[in-house]
Amino acid sequence: MADQYAVIGNPVEHSLSPAIHAEFARATGQDLAYGKILAPLGGFEAAVSKFFKEGGKGLNVTLPFKRRAWDMVNFSTDAESGYAIDAEAVNTIKLTGEKLFGYNTDGLGLIADLEQNLRLPIRGKRVLLMGAGGATYGVVHPILAREPGLLVVANRTMDKANQLVAHFQKKAGAVGRFSAKPYEQLSGSQFDLVINATSAGLKNEMPSLPAEVFAPGALAYDMVYGKETPFLKFAASHGARTSDGLGMLVEQAAESFSIWRGVRPETRPVIDLLRRERGGRSAEG
Ligand code: ATR
Repeated sequence: MADQYAVIGNPVEHSLSPAIHAEFARATGQDLAYGKILAPLGGFEAAVSKFFKEGGKGLNVTLPFKRRAWDMVNFSTDAESGYAIDAEAVNTIKLTGEKLFGYNTDGLGLIADLEQNLRLPIRGKRVLLMGAGGATYGVVHPILAREPGLLVVANRTMDKANQLVAHFQKKAGAVGRFSAKPYEQLSGSQFDLVINATSAGLKNEMPSLPAEVFAPGALAYDMVYGKETPFLKFAASHGARTSDGLGMLVEQAAESFSIWRGVRPETRPVIDLLRRERGGRSAEG
């Protein structure tokens, strides 16, 4: 029987992960099957145990269980395991021997999409990250590790943004110019990269962002995929280059695949395939 993998979440019906991993397996000649598991909100841990008891090799964990997965696993010395420790969230589980190990590949997925697909090296850049929820926690440490010139976290609820900055200052050590600001205080500041990690786009809303934050040539990136969010429309109308988060989704999947199988699949053909199938915009916006 082929090695078994799956994505577990609630909801999970519309996950693109099975299609992405099937394509990776085909392209790399790996013999594996990848399914999806809808776990009841009260039954995540039992569903994970059952999957591995029945011979499963690895899981991707999606909303709302990434934090609960963190409580269930061991950590290795790999960078992706370190990022999971710091984010207090796990999106990838691998069975090694008798033990479950946890990793977080979301941040490296974002970095790969930005730097390789969108050709925006983060080192030295002024970066604005909007939101202070789970999506932001998953990407802060990998962004800091690329040594941006400046990283500002903006959030409606300032307590959460301050807490987040304090958390990563403790975890990531001396990290230079890293701070929290309310949206109102962004007037007059300019950024080379503006990342929307809020859930506003899912509700067709956007944070109250001053238009002048986009430096000439800036990239506006929304982690939501398959949808031109109000933030992306706003950014495009103020001259920014735009991208949704489909590339990040495929890149984080490639990192997971590589943790499980020891082979990193090519991502570009899969991103292009999904854009064609979904009729989406090009990654270059
Ligand atoms: P998750 O863990 O899934 O990221 P979350 O913890 O609820 O979800 O975080 C959602 C993020 O989106 C928060 O930063 C939230 O801002 P607040 O902390 O101020 O609530 C942000 N968010 C959601 N809708 C928003 C909107 N319309 N405008 C600005 N920020 C919004």
